[in-house]
Amino acid sequence: MEKILRVDNLSSGYGQFTVLRDINLYVGEGEIVSVVGANGAGKSTLLLTIAGHLSINAGQIRFENQSIANVPAHDCPAKGLVLIPEGGRLFPFMTVLENLQLGAYHSTARHDMKRKLEEVFELFPLFADRSHQLAGRLSGGERQMCAVARAMMANPKLLMLDEPSLGLAPIMVGKIFELIKQLVKTKKVSILLVEQNVGNALDLSERGYVLEQGQIRKSGASKELLIDADIQRSYMGL
Ligand SMILES: Nc1ncnc2c1ncn2[C@@H]1O[C@H](COP(=O)(O)OP(=O)(O)OP(=O)(O)O)[C@@H](O)[C@H]1O
Ligand SMILES: [Mg+2]
Repeated sequence: MEKILRVDNLSSGYGQFTVLRDINLYVGEGEIVSVVGANGAGKSTLLLTIAGHLSINAGQIRFENQSIANVPAHDCPAKGLVLIPEGGRLFPFMTVLENLQLGAYHSTARHDMKRKLEEVFELFPLFADRSHQLAGRLSGGERQMCAVARAMMANPKLLMLDEPSLGLAPIMVGKIFELIKQLVKTKKVSILLVEQNVGNALDLSERGYVLEQGQIRKSGASKELLIDADIQRSYMGL
């Protein structure tokens, strides 16, 4: 299996404050990989670093076998590396349509805007009917869906999702995760999913990593991690 993303011995943080230490992980092409951990473990920091928002202190990040360690965040979408940040970060005073269009602002997607919109409306029929509604008027679950739709406008090869289940009712979490599965199957994207919702994330993914205090404590096949007694006790309330 080709690896679309490889993170080797990565260390990063905020200025002098190191959060991540010696992180090693990879995502195979077409794979769904989860990184699970508690509040403050460093999950968002990890995605922000990979997406070029934070500079790295040590180590290497490769996307499609090319170093992206020094690629700034605004150049990542054009390469096919797209982050859906915590909470989705839609622009509430812009319409759904305008938010979606912003997803395709970069050069490789822009010329294809009309076709991308049609494709995304087919995946998310809800937004075809409500494209002129303000994004701020969407429900929490719809907002998260819309953030995924906006990311799809960018033609992602690797989609990174920061806690898409946060604050959503279980039924909505199920819908979002089902959608992620469908995107992998039909749109050939690979997924790096970061979650506090450990049970659901491991259910969805093929492999997982457990992040604790900025370090990977455990990794392996998700179905193995799901029956790991330590993980069940620490993260799943069992
Ligand atoms: N902008 C920042 N400046 C300095 N420290 C930060 C900043 N953002 C986060 N941190 C610190 O980095 C550490 C990891 O935070 P991070 O947001 O990556 O955790 P997380 O696993 O995403 O947590 P959560 O599940 O609550 O979102 C924490 O100690 C946090 O206080
Ligand atoms: Mg976070």
